[in-house]
Amino acid sequence: MATIESILRENRVFPPAGEFVRHANIAGIKTYKELCQEAEHDYTGFWAKLAKQYITWHKPFTRILDDTNPPFYKWFDDGELNISWNCLDRHLATQADKTAIIFESDEGKVNHCSYRELHRQVCRFANGLKSLGIRQGDRVVIYMPMRIEAVVAMQACARIGAIHSVVFGGFSAKSVYERIIDAEASAVITADEQTRGGKCHALKATVDKALAMSDTTSVHSVVVFQHTGTDIAWQPERDHWWHDLTARQSDECEPTWINAEHPLFTLYTSGSTGKPKGVQHSSAGYLLGTITSMQWVFDYHADDVFWCTADVGWVTGHSYVTYGPLAIGATQVIFEGIPTYPDAGRFWKIIQKHKVTIFYTAPTAIRSLIKLGPDLPEKYDLSSLRLLGSVGEPINPEAWMWYFTVVGQSRCPVVDTWWQTETGSHIIAPVPGAISTKPGSCTLPLPGIDAAAIDETGQPVKEGKGGFLVIKRPFPSMLRTLWNDPARFKQTYFPADIAGGRYYVAGDSAHRDRDGYFWIMGRIDDVLNVSGHRLGTMEIESALVAHPLVAEAAVVGKPHEIKGEAVVAFVTLREKSPDDQRAAEIAATLREWVAGEIGAIARPEEIRFGENLPKTRSGKIMRRLLRALARGETITQDVSTLENPIILEQLSQTV
Ligand code: WTA
Repeated sequence: MATIESILRENRVFPPAGEFVRHANIAGIKTYKELCQEAEHDYTGFWAKLAKQYITWHKPFTRILDDTNPPFYKWFDDGELNISWNCLDRHLATQADKTAIIFESDEGKVNHCSYRELHRQVCRFANGLKSLGIRQGDRVVIYMPMRIEAVVAMQACARIGAIHSVVFGGFSAKSVYERIIDAEASAVITADEQTRGGKCHALKATVDKALAMSDTTSVHSVVVFQHTGTDIAWQPERDHWWHDLTARQSDECEPTWINAEHPLFTLYTSGSTGKPKGVQHSSAGYLLGTITSMQWVFDYHADDVFWCTADVGWVTGHSYVTYGPLAIGATQVIFEGIPTYPDAGRFWKIIQKHKVTIFYTAPTAIRSLIKLGPDLPEKYDLSSLRLLGSVGEPINPEAWMWYFTVVGQSRCPVVDTWWQTETGSHIIAPVPGAISTKPGSCTLPLPGIDAAAIDETGQPVKEGKGGFLVIKRPFPSMLRTLWNDPARFKQTYFPADIAGGRYYVAGDSAHRDRDGYFWIMGRIDDVLNVSGHRLGTMEIESALVAHPLVAEAAVVGKPHEIKGEAVVAFVTLREKSPDDQRAAEIAATLREWVAGEIGAIARPEEIRFGENLPKTRSGKIMRRLLRALARGETITQDVSTLENPIILEQLSQTV
């Protein structure tokens, strides 16, 4: 394999501040290295010790890792526990009155919910589910607004051993339908509507539409949380109001003790081809990953106010809203709305109001907030913050620097966390009291994670050369399989043509620098081959975004007669709608800029401007659409998950 050329160079280094190190859970590089050595020395013993320390078991495990049938690994598989009990009941003796959730609604109403109260709500709802005949192992689809009730619904499923499948509230009826069918779900939990950015969006009506898509359905019950009170269609034999269902239930619900390997949830994620994959997670191993990362990466302390902005429809909202923070007994903020409503200061205002100490968001949010108000954070008191996190895509160094200096006032470490739906929890991320950060790098693997950048034969690639990002040993929080599709699981994540199928292949490319730091270069399918040089699209995007005129950029390849592939850049400018002449001038400037920053090889053949880029509702740029646009193809693909469909028209124009 011709190794992927790495062209991005970043030399800034930020060592952890002494004050931070003094109070850190993992204090200093020596402690971090000792943990890594411990894992290397006795891999399964290392994880077993943590599993005993952080999880309360109903029946202790005696087996640690079962690797007799790779890649179908099992962890702690003769142990029994309940996830909801670990997230709620075990805190009642010590901190029942501690605030578990500070909820802020779209319109700004705030509600504090203690561990005692959350426990009560989960028990009542779990009893309600049981009264509908839902039992251990049944699948339940959850299609909810970002409110406390979404967490209650998930926790209630966990309490009775039902397997949840959360569908993001922005997805279409067709997506809901497909997930119901794939899971053969017994029930759907939803709300009448959700409110985001001052607007109401139907949920129940979408569920009705999904359920009408086939004549027969496995769904016998639909539970509806009344949120806005709008009129909705009703099927009395099938539909149940949340408030009616819970009204007569007991405040106690004996948890269903389940096996460590019992599936906690499935969550669908798109692959490069075919239908979405139902990523299936275990119970104990998954929970352990969320807890250790809360400790190590978020450096959780008892007085922290944690805020992860992700919706529960994504894995980040599973691991760092519903499970990790509760398992560790934290106080967290849950926000129903969007960062720009009623204005672009909303995030900063929430941090100020609730004295948030740990803030975790996505580069796409950071970049859009830079665009809307680079000086806005200075108008708010953000002095409560002590740690900042980023997730979901590579963060370009310019956005990283802004996050660090303007939001964190150069005081808060930035943890750029690399992980995936499939890994369940953080994999490569700086342990903030130990690791010096570099803008744009997710730094080093967490203790117990054996990550590498390799070529097809399994050899580590040379410093600065890109390769396949792999994890060489099974780890507790990894996916167990794809729902109903073990063959696809094996083929996708342990492909025989990479190192003989021995390793977990993440589907990303990465290179390592001389300090062993990982630099994610994007998905393997986002790699361009220009005149025999393989270029990570992310690096070209970073160069573009570093130009003062540019707010956001996405790069794809299009076939080129001579070069193999040519670079096409889609760019959002900081200035509003330039006329044709100005646009042509800017395009010329940017082409030269990229050539200057990276080299002539990366100079975009074409630059197109739009007020926005096509994104999924979770903020990921839809590169497959951009690839089609770049090739001048008509869009025949499903655009139902697109946040802003009108933008496709704009971006089809060439300058
Ligand atoms: C990308 C989100 C660079 C990557 C938790 C990965 C990142 C995919 C980072 C998983 C990061 C996520 N730096 N790239 N810090 N975090 N990615 O399943 O390509 O929604 O494979 O999980 O996002 O996305 P997913």
